[in-house]
Amino acid sequence: MAQTAASLHWLNERTSRHAVRLIDRLQAEPQGERAALIAAILASPASVSPKYFYDAIGCTLFEAICCLPEYYPTRTERSILTEHRAEIVRVAGTNRQFVDLGAGDCAKASMLLPALQPRRYIAVDIAAPAIVPALSRLALAFPRVELVGVVTDFSAELDLADAIDAGPTTFFYPGSSIGNFDPVDALALLLRVRELCGEGSGLLIGVDTKKERSRLEAAYNDALGVTAAFNRNLLNHVNSIVDGDFDPSAFGHVAFYNEAQGRIEMHLEALSAQSVQIDGHERAFDAGERIHTENSYKYEPEEFADLLRRAGFSQISLWQDDARDFAVFHAK
Ligand code: AVI
Repeated sequence: MAQTAASLHWLNERTSRHAVRLIDRLQAEPQGERAALIAAILASPASVSPKYFYDAIGCTLFEAICCLPEYYPTRTERSILTEHRAEIVRVAGTNRQFVDLGAGDCAKASMLLPALQPRRYIAVDIAAPAIVPALSRLALAFPRVELVGVVTDFSAELDLADAIDAGPTTFFYPGSSIGNFDPVDALALLLRVRELCGEGSGLLIGVDTKKERSRLEAAYNDALGVTAAFNRNLLNHVNSIVDGDFDPSAFGHVAFYNEAQGRIEMHLEALSAQSVQIDGHERAFDAGERIHTENSYKYEPEEFADLLRRAGFSQISLWQDDARDFAVFHAK
């Protein structure tokens, strides 16, 4: 982190009218997180939270996934944001604070910043390796915007103290990342965002829609095997956190659409019977036993609008592509 702070300081000195601030909330909480991760792996069935996809390699693999021909959500959302940019800006308003939830490389927000002209941009993400260089790039491109990075696990708690003031704010949650929460937790997050929305504020959110199984499953089983590598890399990340000896090549990538639940499920399946050491514990896996690594819920637009209303939002706007593959909502 010292190097990070130094490079941001270097940038501030040379490029930006404002200081780039980095608030790191992850450092306060590692022990409980580690214990929860170990317990979930030792449990039966085993699971690992999808937040552990995003180490430095995982962030890079996810950026590659977003470029894959099979993974339509990223390019479809981008086309909606481009085609309807003027109307989105009219509904959301300019000169706001702009909170980018799960900012990653900040690429989607960068498309909107010239039009939205926020007075402050806040990149919120669990992965410092993604947002630190992204904020550095933004400082060069948008020297008049105050830039703040918040490194936090907002699936556990969205705490923006010291990052935003009480002024109007646009919350931006693109990429259908809301789909990685089960509907109860998704509602809890939307309620929290609604609570943070003062006068003139709103939420701009992208959601993947339900569609035919073959297209959904292809998006998570790409021909190049990038999603499989992304899934397996989670075991490398887990090893580094819990002193484990998972062999990623001993697990197969499994992704399928669970229609009853309306979600893609990703798992890692043991290719043979094996035993793994985790923090001094031994966890035996039978051949074929799975570790559940991700759910990605898909919503009919009306289903999601209903979730927004249950969270307390009332004025809801919706934009979609012609094929109705993806939905972008603005809600106040
Ligand atoms: C980040 N999230 C919305 C992605 C998704 O589609 O659920 C993560 C992902 N997993 C596999 N491919 C992409």
